[in-house]
Amino acid sequence: MGYKCIEEVTEILDLLYKHGWDERNGGNLSYILTEEEVESVCDTDKVKRTFTYNFDMSSIVGKYFVITGTGKYFKNCLKDPETNLGILKVIDNHTLGLLWGYKDGGAPTSEAPTHLKCHIERLKVDPKHRLVCHCHPTNVICMTHIHDLDSNHWTEDLWKMQTESIVVFPEGIAVLPWILCGGEEIGIATAEKMKEYRSVVWAQHGLFCTGKTLDEVFGLIETIEKAAEIYMKICDKPRLQSITNEQLLTLAKAFKIDFRHGIID
Ligand code: 13P
Ligand code: ZN
Repeated sequence: MGYKCIEEVTEILDLLYKHGWDERNGGNLSYILTEEEVESVCDTDKVKRTFTYNFDMSSIVGKYFVITGTGKYFKNCLKDPETNLGILKVIDNHTLGLLWGYKDGGAPTSEAPTHLKCHIERLKVDPKHRLVCHCHPTNVICMTHIHDLDSNHWTEDLWKMQTESIVVFPEGIAVLPWILCGGEEIGIATAEKMKEYRSVVWAQHGLFCTGKTLDEVFGLIETIEKAAEIYMKICDKPRLQSITNEQLLTLAKAFKIDFRHGIID
């Protein structure tokens, strides 16, 4: 207890829970820690248990992660991090070594392969990338029931729900159809989208968001869910006016936003 890096993570997990975006064990998080951060919590080389994965992790060997445990409730992470979270090191191409946590014999989230594949892709485009967060935000899930699943259509509609959307996610948002969660196919598909996007929607399931910091990713989730909430509140009402393509282009120019082309231009 009292470890700053763990406290920062559990505070975000608690906030996500309090927003209603992570019911029961819904959602999971993985965050790259520095060696100094790990040293402040535990030994960096005393491996207690190992977990093996059948894909190539060579590009992240030596990295440290804090990863939520499978079946664990976000609700409980703040009061008992050592049971609900684990600190792991990628010890070779296929193996994670547990250094701390999962005190009750637990294991990394069932979505760990997807998280790790996303980290591998995001680190290629952004060396400062650190965080992958999966959650179940209500309005995003609602939208996947009534909106088509085209990524450009979602991007355009979410950008037009509120002025801040294009500022916060200028690269847009990717959408995947329903695919079996926890499996290989969804991990590969999500990581493929992460080559171009920080945010990927899983139809009838939830959202994966990535970024450099806990604040950045929490802000991304909040902004996407807020846009989806506005969409759900107005989608069956007559619209008298909305944000136009021209207005978004004016905004992009004024704020020097490098937005995804081919949607509003
Ligand atoms: P875990 O409990 O294994 O993290 O799974 C929760 C979840 O949201 C699956 O997508
Ligand atoms: Zn989920």
